[in-house]
Amino acid sequence: MKFTFAAIALASLFLAPSTASGQFISIAYPADGAVVPANSQITVEINRPDFATSGREVALVLGLNPSCPNSQCVPPSQNMGDIMYDGPFTPQRVASLPQKGPHQNFTITVGGPGLVQLNAFHVGLLGVFNTPFTEYQNITLNVQ
Ligand SMILES: *[C@@H]1O[C@H](CO)[C@@H](O)[C@H](O)[C@H]1NC(C)=O
Ligand SMILES: *[C@@H]1O[C@H](CO)[C@@H](O)[C@H](O)[C@H]1NC(C)=O
Repeated sequence: MKFTFAAIALASLFLAPSTASGQFISIAYPADGAVVPANSQITVEINRPDFATSGREVALVLGLNPSCPNSQCVPPSQNMGDIMYDGPFTPQRVASLPQKGPHQNFTITVGGPGLVQLNAFHVGLLGVFNTPFTEYQNITLNVQ
């Protein structure tokens, strides 16, 4: 019984993610390396394709790490930077944008000029066993 449960749980773990890497979200906008105006509000678009199996959203965190203008930033798993958003993630399809999958836009404020790393941390539950998963994404923005 225990073995069966573990085997099924393992199978659902490996079958559930829609991609081999288990990544779901992507930072769709701005593009990696985009130039954005200093001290302005920008739209951040997070895409998440439909789950292959049942899934439940838990939370999304967006952070800006401005502390690595001349070198590689540390990974978001170690330093999310200044928290710009921390809350529910409810990606939706938009009827007027049929070519676009489920996504959600967030408005964040960027500070002074320099390179900043925009970090996303995503938490959810997958499949019939509500298997927890976490993932990170990041892009670099050129604030001018
Ligand atoms: C940022 O994302 C890129 C592309 O996914 C990845 O190659 C890189 O390792 C990430 N950087 C950090 C610091 O996590
Ligand atoms: C989200 O932002 C992107 C990029 O600005 C835009 O193309 C898209 O229409 C927006 N979606 C909604 C629902 O406003």
